[in-house]
Amino acid sequence: MSSPLASSDVPALASRRRTFAVISHPDAGKSTLTEALALHAQAIAQAGAVHGKGARRGTVSDWLEMEQARGISITSAVLQLTVDDVVLNLLDTPGHADFSEDTYRVLSAVDCAVMLLDAAKGLEPQTLKLFEACRVRRTPVITVINKWDRPGQEPLALLDEIQQRLGVTPTPLNWPVGIAGDFRGVVDAATGGMTQFTRTPGGATVAGREELDAGEAARRHGQDWHAATEELELLTASGQVHDQEEFLAARTTPVLFTAAVINFGVAELLEAVTRLAPPPGPWSDVQGVAQPVDGPLSGFVFKVQTGMDRSHRDRIAFMRVCSGRFERGMVLTHAGTGRPFQTKYAQSVFGRERETIDEAYPGDVVGLVNAHALHVGDTLHEGRAVHYPPLPRFAPEHFAVVRARETGRSKQFRRGIDMLDQEGVVQVLVSDRRGAQAPVLAAVGPMQFEVATHRLEHEFGAQAVLEPLGYGIARRTTPSAMPVVDGKHGAEVLRRTDGTLVALFTDRWRMGTVESELPRGSLLPMFGADGMDAS
Ligand code: G4P
Repeated sequence: MSSPLASSDVPALASRRRTFAVISHPDAGKSTLTEALALHAQAIAQAGAVHGKGARRGTVSDWLEMEQARGISITSAVLQLTVDDVVLNLLDTPGHADFSEDTYRVLSAVDCAVMLLDAAKGLEPQTLKLFEACRVRRTPVITVINKWDRPGQEPLALLDEIQQRLGVTPTPLNWPVGIAGDFRGVVDAATGGMTQFTRTPGGATVAGREELDAGEAARRHGQDWHAATEELELLTASGQVHDQEEFLAARTTPVLFTAAVINFGVAELLEAVTRLAPPPGPWSDVQGVAQPVDGPLSGFVFKVQTGMDRSHRDRIAFMRVCSGRFERGMVLTHAGTGRPFQTKYAQSVFGRERETIDEAYPGDVVGLVNAHALHVGDTLHEGRAVHYPPLPRFAPEHFAVVRARETGRSKQFRRGIDMLDQEGVVQVLVSDRRGAQAPVLAAVGPMQFEVATHRLEHEFGAQAVLEPLGYGIARRTTPSAMPVVDGKHGAEVLRRTDGTLVALFTDRWRMGTVESELPRGSLLPMFGADGMDAS
């Protein structure tokens, strides 16, 4: 692969990358904002070409039938935008709360997150959970208060809620002129000037923006302007001013206001991400050794997706590049097996759209097509061996036995179950007692079961029957505790495919009584690699 760039350019090219994801509660406007960002970066001509919902359904990123039927985004994709000479990699996260495990994995591959709030609702449960995942990883977070074109809460109350409940100091980059529901524009906290917004028909194209100095803003917007500047001064006086170091240390969160559906404030957000989000830095391996960005190529798989292209029944592994320069065609080593891995079929993938990717740099995401040997969490490297930490796994709360409806299809069934397990669609638990024909599926949310059975039938040709189990709690356990737990009513031990022993209990009370018979430390939280526990 010839390229004009020498590998010594890697640090320079990495410094021009921003890799981020949007975290939000469903309906806060993530899909709308993604479209709006793409529109502003001119990746698409008119908003509506990225995600399909409502009238916009059927477009690029919702490829599973189920997603289309429900209007939700289950699968993740990567959108690459270029702003001036900065490359933004926006990693899409599934919108539905049942897929938070998937979202966690995506968050482990980003350098920054945009936390999107609905102005009327403030912090919602899913936002809190996802923010927590960012906190554990010390990921810097930019806050966006969306839907300012609709009646909502007072901006100061929203900032107060962020400070109180998240323990990070919100530092406004801009402040809305006009109450929620009457969004005229924003005061720029740095310059003190105003950007006035005007609607375009249907909000499908970039909104009109006019820069006003303070005098002109006061003349045009009178009381609204004065209220906005007074509030902003109040925050400035209390020290709520953006400080890049504090933001990168995840102690503060810069705040912006938007109405994504009419493209108000979106250009400002794009500018903030480009200017403030950190570029990819050294990535810690499993021993905690930082791998410099200009080292040999290394990366890890944070997502595996099959069936994105029905006609090809393919399987794509998404790898975040952590160090070095990726060139299509290079032969890498699979860190887990030590086997060589060919990268001839590398692509950039967004929804149904794919392009062959010839080179990539730290922070970029490479889609490796037909990567049957790759699983979520695997490391690929060039040269000396590198192992990146395993990805976090969520504590499942729903459990069901799954069986093939027809015994004649058991081969297809087994193949499908293996695939779903490797992709992390559900966790698969087995035990000698239940046998390999009746594995237990474990999920964070019940919709994961629906996706699993849908795919078993449509992709693998094996209709499946589910039998829900009455368990609600999972804990890691030890081989010595196994016989004790297994003998109890309302409890059972199974083995996850990574070898972890998992004890299931109907409820906390049952778990408590069993635990009292075991040596200390026999039941452990289902910690992920980051020490997260969703139970
Ligand atoms: P999600 O991906 O976070 O789940 O949210 P999505 O973008 O689908 O937005 C959820 C709903 O909120 C959509 O309305 C969308 O149009 C609306 N929305 C998003 N941003 C804004 C905004 O800034 N202002 C206002 N007023 N509404 C916004 P819907 O009725 O569910 O769907 P649709 O038919 O309008 O697409």
